Amino acid sequence: MNTSVFSLLRTFVVTKNKKMELKDRTYLITGGTSGVGKAIATGIAKTGANVVIVSRTTSNGQQTVREISEKSANRKISFLTADLSLMKSVGQLSTEFKQQYNQLHGLVNAAGAWYFKKEMTSEGIDKSFAINYLSHFVLTNNLLDIIETTDDARIVTVAGAPRFMKKPKIDLNDLQLTKSYSWLKATNLAMFARVYFGLELADRLQNTSASSMLFHPGFVKSNLGKGATPWWLKLMFLLSSDVRNAPDTCESGVYVATKENAKSTNGKFFDEKNNIIELQNKFEKSIGKELWLLSEQLSSKR
Ligand SMILES: NC(=O)c1ccc[n+]([C@@H]2O[C@H](COP(=O)([O-])OP(=O)(O)OC[C@H]3O[C@@H](n4cnc5c(N)ncnc54)[C@H](OP(=O)(O)O)[C@@H]3O)[C@@H](O)[C@H]2O)c1
Repeated sequence: MNTSVFSLLRTFVVTKNKKMELKDRTYLITGGTSGVGKAIATGIAKTGANVVIVSRTTSNGQQTVREISEKSANRKISFLTADLSLMKSVGQLSTEFKQQYNQLHGLVNAAGAWYFKKEMTSEGIDKSFAINYLSHFVLTNNLLDIIETTDDARIVTVAGAPRFMKKPKIDLNDLQLTKSYSWLKATNLAMFARVYFGLELADRLQNTSASSMLFHPGFVKSNLGKGATPWWLKLMFLLSSDVRNAPDTCESGVYVATKENAKSTNGKFFDEKNNIIELQNKFEKSIGKELWLLSEQLSSKR
């Protein structure tokens, strides 16, 4: 056989194997009913993988599964219901997932919500902190056992734009913003906490086959600003062409969730163009470790 025919055959076999591999993977995606999570779920579904999205309600779950199935021509899409503001519900979600699946190649932490007034959950946790950060922490930890036994598994967590990460201030003595609350403070706190979490998780996964990565989705069509109450934010949403023209795809999220050899990029932060941005020196390791302990304490009481 001449060399070019041989290399063509080899490329065919490798490509085929890669597709087989993606097709056989299983993903769990929070926030899969809208915005970033839905865009990633659709992108992953197009690879033929099994996709499980988390939905707050059965009706929304059914409707979104239909939409993603149609767009991706993939029938292996399903949903589980959970209210991610409640850690008890997050616990039930993990148990249900493990009853149905014994492998998890990718957990995508993409759920989020904005709270303009301080609200507490029935479990006594600030709602913004619960949904935007603690649910990701608890769900990931609950699923780590099956993630660690799955080949090339990864946890990918949504973050914000790298330009907002230059001074990641976080008050470990007031994670629930009891002293003073604002939408911006709560959103920033949760965003920084997610990055500290993703980096500390990467350290903890060093001696396993699993990995943790963070990504900035860029602008993605979203419901996030729909309930905005401050007039200036409403105006910004109305006038911003970035927001109006936002795509309903999320390339960086799909890339980090499906890339081969995730281990080689454990602990990395990807921007919306899939470039690796060095942020580690801005996020002190000692803060990540302390936040982890505080998060364990907060969630174990629920
Ligand atoms: N969109 C962007 O351009 C962008 C850019 C940078 C970062 N982000 C970050 O990405 C995250 C998601 O934002 P998004 O734009 O995708 O917002 P979105 O369109 O509003 O989607 C939020 C998702 O989270 C789910 N969710 C909210 N509260 C929940 C709860 N209590 N239980 C279960 N699921 C819940 C929503 O479910 P329902 O459908 O039931 O509401 C929805 O699926 C946020 O942290 C945001 O800061 C977004």
